[in-house]
Amino acid sequence: MIPSEAREVEDAHYARYYARKPVTIVRGRGALLYDDKDKEYVDCTGAYGACIVGHAHPKVAQAISDQAKKLIACHGSTYNDARAEFVLKLSTILPGDLNKLFLTNSGAEAVECAIKVARKATGRRKIVAVKGAFHGKTHGALSATWDAKYRKDFEPLVPDFVHIPFNNPEIAKETVTNDTAAIFLEPVQGEGGIRVPSKEWVTLLSDLIHDVGGLLVADEIQTGFGRTGKMFAGEHTGIKPDILCLGKGIASGLPVGVTAAADGTMSTLPVGEHTTTFGGNPVVCASGSATIDILLEEHLVDNAAKAGEYFKASLLGLMGKHRIVREVRGLGLMLAVETRFDAHEILTNALNEGVLMLDAGRNVLRFLPPLCIQTSQIERVLATLDRVLEKEELARLPGSSTAGNA
Ligand SMILES: Cc1ncc(COP(=O)(O)O)c(C=O)c1O
Repeated sequence: MIPSEAREVEDAHYARYYARKPVTIVRGRGALLYDDKDKEYVDCTGAYGACIVGHAHPKVAQAISDQAKKLIACHGSTYNDARAEFVLKLSTILPGDLNKLFLTNSGAEAVECAIKVARKATGRRKIVAVKGAFHGKTHGALSATWDAKYRKDFEPLVPDFVHIPFNNPEIAKETVTNDTAAIFLEPVQGEGGIRVPSKEWVTLLSDLIHDVGGLLVADEIQTGFGRTGKMFAGEHTGIKPDILCLGKGIASGLPVGVTAAADGTMSTLPVGEHTTTFGGNPVVCASGSATIDILLEEHLVDNAAKAGEYFKASLLGLMGKHRIVREVRGLGLMLAVETRFDAHEILTNALNEGVLMLDAGRNVLRFLPPLCIQTSQIERVLATLDRVLEKEELARLPGSSTAGNA
């Protein structure tokens, strides 16, 4: 396929389920991406958080290629060395006693498994999730997801899911009862706009669910593996989840999801009740093992903390300069800038200037760069953002100067 034809062909033959950016990405390296005309972009999307060690890392490419030459297909009904190595490596970095794992092909599927395990392990139906939450778009996961725009045409969804308001202790106390199987919690809400809950509220949720004998399910699909400057975002508050859902970057962009729990919890689903053909695929597992090695060898969790601190402080500096910026929030390299107006033009103008950013709702710019992003690349993003914010400010708030609201 000639890269310049990709857009026309995909528009003709690929379901229009994604809001598309008008760019054809053909290669990448580290935190940089290149389009079909070889224009360079700093990638602040990280493939929606699925690229943590950087694009096309040579060690990941080597591991994938070596494994593909040996064995590509291997169903979970036989043992496999690449799968064994991956689950062993994962078990060594997972918190607490969460050392029994199930491998899936996506984050949503990791959540599906967690819903079934939570219900089976407790013998209860009721699941408490949080307003603003995103847990995926398959029917079970969608029942835990909050946003009406994803849910409304598919209701009724899976019954017995309730949503409590973010950071509200009183309603949490009223809602978590003796018939609650689990609370599903994102330690930092991602799609919901990069919202960091208070430590007190998160601790309360953990205490409430454990007091009634239910399970705390942490959805770290977006926050896990160093994204927030800790290996897992639960470390910021000290919560100890009973079930952990993971996905996104752990196989460097190959499809994967992980549901992890202690043996006693995980084993409540008997043989055959929950399986998937491709789960634990050897090539994905080889990529996952290489990704964990790189994460540790290149100290990328520390880099996410340090680079994230610099990035956030600089974004706060831009907030002081541009009245159009309402708030800056986030942890590590999971950051957001909330604007006073629709952020669409800002994203488009940044793209034209060589910076790929994400949104999270109508007026939130979201930054999920690879954890290896360098200071000079962050500076490029900041300089671009400064220019596009100024342009937007002049258009939206005529007469405004960048002297702003410092
Ligand atoms: C917190 C969270 N949970 C679940 C999912 C769903 O993962 P996937 O898109 O791999 O199904 C996402 C995806 O963005 C997510 O951010």
